Amino acid sequence: MRPGKTKHELKRIICINLALIFVVVGPGCAGILKTSKKTAGGTFTFPKNFIWGAGTSSHQVEGNNTNNDWWQWEQSLPLNMRSGRSCDEWNRFEDDFKLAQNLGLTALRFSIEWSRVEPSPGQFDAKSLERYREMILSLRSKGIEPIITLEHFTIPLWLAKRGGWLAEESPELFKEFARKTAEELGGDVHYWITINEPATYMYKSYMLGTWPPGEKSTNDAFKVIQNLAKAHVLAYGEIKEVYAKRAWKAPMVGVAQQVVIFAPCSPFSLWDRISAGLRDKMINHLLIDALIRGKAAIPGVFSIKLPKARTLDFIGLNYYTREHVHARGFLLADILGAECISANPHTKWNSLGWEIYPEGLYEIIKAFSRYKLPILISENGICTDDDAERSVFIAAHLKAVARAMDEGAHVIGYLYWSLLDNYEWAEGFAPRFGLVGVDYATEERTVRGSAKKYGEIIKCGKLDY
Ligand code: FCB
Repeated sequence: MRPGKTKHELKRIICINLALIFVVVGPGCAGILKTSKKTAGGTFTFPKNFIWGAGTSSHQVEGNNTNNDWWQWEQSLPLNMRSGRSCDEWNRFEDDFKLAQNLGLTALRFSIEWSRVEPSPGQFDAKSLERYREMILSLRSKGIEPIITLEHFTIPLWLAKRGGWLAEESPELFKEFARKTAEELGGDVHYWITINEPATYMYKSYMLGTWPPGEKSTNDAFKVIQNLAKAHVLAYGEIKEVYAKRAWKAPMVGVAQQVVIFAPCSPFSLWDRISAGLRDKMINHLLIDALIRGKAAIPGVFSIKLPKARTLDFIGLNYYTREHVHARGFLLADILGAECISANPHTKWNSLGWEIYPEGLYEIIKAFSRYKLPILISENGICTDDDAERSVFIAAHLKAVARAMDEGAHVIGYLYWSLLDNYEWAEGFAPRFGLVGVDYATEERTVRGSAKKYGEIIKCGKLDY
């Protein structure tokens, strides 16, 4: 370690210690750490225009996205850990959209693969844009609202070579991609998600180093999240401008924010509470605070300043799990990086070992209601080999949504993750998240029982919670 860095790190530790006290007692963690006192009970009728959907992302389902950073990263992994043909969605979307229609879904979230649309800098590929237009029109013809994500973890190889999201110019480059996509596809799209889970990307790609480009540098991680936030702000402005110029109905533009309930391993340990509070602040709230207020900070640790405030029309929440955390040391990564397994014998996990905690969706909706923006549950799902568990999962989480809405929360929709089994990043194909099962050898689809149950809830439009 260079001497300068040591000094810098030491300074950071001292600042963190001071700042953490603020974090724990501050408003950021209070809503998350305490559980609600109200016990369940009631019937809720969802509004007629509630969005009932499911999601996918380009690299996870399309197949053969050979021109992005993930593809390159996968080439050094064993064959079964590479995305390859995946669900071949690029060619099979029409049939899959029919399945979605038969289930009664009213929305489908999918992403536009930047590396297809802009295969080299400034060169846009008309054929790829045309294919995405076909997808959008196909959904519309089935009465399904397309919800478009512009950036879902992958970047074009050419951008990766220039430094990816670390590159100074990356927000501007994303802005151009967003503009072109909005101009070409915008007329038929109302909902845009600029970037999926910026903090997850920062954490896995630049702190843990388990995703491309495999870096472990807190300083770089902070630069990346700043660039992602700036990219969102610029893209938000571009999309709005394109719509205004063409007199299209004003779109709803937001981000999909990963959210986790963070609980202390030991509720009696101040340091464990600090750890949970810091994670809540950094991972759940910091970016949203910044996008709304134009700036956000954890004093002494990190701050974001953006060219513009109020660049969210809705908040997308991707909710899966609760994590119990404890402080392992005094470096930022140590405070953020330690988890323990819940000792509760009734705890259930998905097949990746993530705790299933439906109540957390209620808690997180309540916590995010303080921003006074519409909330879209942009992802929520379970990977399991037992489909009966999926039915229970969906009903339990929708009940949590119903309860929050009954208490006044403004939730506009729920998107189950995922429509299809798919390529789960560094976990490969083993986790089965789909409402529809996929046999990767034959590409045969099987509509699962849980999908039909979800369809029944949609049809009924009402839930006892
Ligand atoms: C989310 C990602 C999505 C998928 C699910 C399981 O964090 O946005 O692509 O991998 O997790």
